[in-house]
Amino acid sequence: MADKKLECVKVEKENGITWVLLDRPEKRNAMSPQLHFEMDETLKALETDPETRVVVIGGTGGYFSAGQDLKTFFRDNENDPAAFKAAAEAANRWRWERLYKYDKPTIAMVEGYCVGGAFMQLLGADFAIAAEDAVFSLSEINWGILPGALVSKAVADTILPRQALYYACLGEPFDGIEAARIGIINFAVPAASLRAETVKLAEKLMAKSPAVLRATKHAVRQVRGMDFGQAYDYLAAKGNEIKVIDKQDSYRTGLSQFLDDKSYKPTFEPFKAKDE
Ligand code: ACO
Repeated sequence: MADKKLECVKVEKENGITWVLLDRPEKRNAMSPQLHFEMDETLKALETDPETRVVVIGGTGGYFSAGQDLKTFFRDNENDPAAFKAAAEAANRWRWERLYKYDKPTIAMVEGYCVGGAFMQLLGADFAIAAEDAVFSLSEINWGILPGALVSKAVADTILPRQALYYACLGEPFDGIEAARIGIINFAVPAASLRAETVKLAEKLMAKSPAVLRATKHAVRQVRGMDFGQAYDYLAAKGNEIKVIDKQDSYRTGLSQFLDDKSYKPTFEPFKAKDE
């Protein structure tokens, strides 16, 4: 990746956080085939990049993404099934397969428009923060298509059925505050503090043991599709995996700090609403 010049993606690294920004602001960061290929390669490289501890997915120019590029992704490929297949595979790989099981924590930072196919990376990322005035829309209904790839599935798995049907069938826009209310993002903040709040979340994530965090996020996602028997077995195996790969030995270290030398005591501050 380092050798290739990126034209549709911007990568910025700062203190362990790598900002991966869709970079076609003149097209509201609509996703072209080239953008998908570049995102796929970029995320692949960053997964093993030692400088990258948290990945933030966003967009330049004040826009998350206006969804799939209706011209270069859809119309230009109508008579070229091979080109369409290659673009769709890359699109699905980075927005879902990679993000869903990424080895490092990922945050979607949403400002401006988040439309249609952009819900894939919104929901593929582990966490999502939006500006209160961000504009979300499942607009596919207005283009004669349905929320495809895995958008319908990801939305249906994340929010309540009534909300999923309402927004998918009407395509009505909603803002960041409504996005938080229906649970499609973690929280909404004033646009001016979006980056600072994203950094704050990233820093909290970087304070955790990377191995335990990785296993935990994988576990929480995977158990959704399991019955109790499978989940017991999977979680026991995942717990044993931590013992092997957690170089910090967080379990024994934590217990010893709490029980023996008393150097660590968890403090559970009462929850405070954001505007208090
Ligand atoms: N595909 C292709 N081009 C796009 C897209 C898109 N999804 N979104 C915006 N653009 C282009 C516009 O055609 C325009 O190009 P031009 O300057 O060459 O004319 C440029 O981006 C700016 O767009 P405007 O409409 O002028 O910008 P504005 O800020 O007024 O509106 C908005 C932005 C609301 C995002 C509007 O462009 C829009 O509704 N776009 C379509 C969004 C959408 O429905 N996406 C889902 C596609 S289907 C899917 O993702 C599966």
